[in-house]
Amino acid sequence: MRKIEHIGIAVADLEKSNELFARLLGKTLFKTEIVEGEGVQTSFFQVGETKVELLQATRTDSPIAKYLEKKAEGVHHIAFDVEDINAEVIRLKKAGFEILNETPKQGADNKLVVFLHPRSTNGVLVELCQEI
Ligand code: CO
Repeated sequence: MRKIEHIGIAVADLEKSNELFARLLGKTLFKTEIVEGEGVQTSFFQVGETKVELLQATRTDSPIAKYLEKKAEGVHHIAFDVEDINAEVIRLKKAGFEILNETPKQGADNKLVVFLHPRSTNGVLVELCQEI
């Protein structure tokens, strides 16, 4: 893993959170994007080498909707940039981590993504992402 690519934050109202994070970071967002497959709308802010990704559910069966139902707004996942996502999946499986999707899927911001189950990572939802 090369660096923290972004930190994902689950929010209930993306429009309000866009305004809040713009005020917090002193920056405007550089991208908003809907990922239909995941049922999310995302916004991205660049903070140095790392990004902040805000995630709002676009439908009630979205993982983010379920997350907000069970928990609350806040840090949802940490995403690490990897050079070769398939090689990382093999390495992490061998190392005993539980992979949620072994086949990388299309994520936001031109990335292939794989998630690790939080029960194998001290409660942290870990995303691996590889630039496409
Ligand atoms: Co993410």
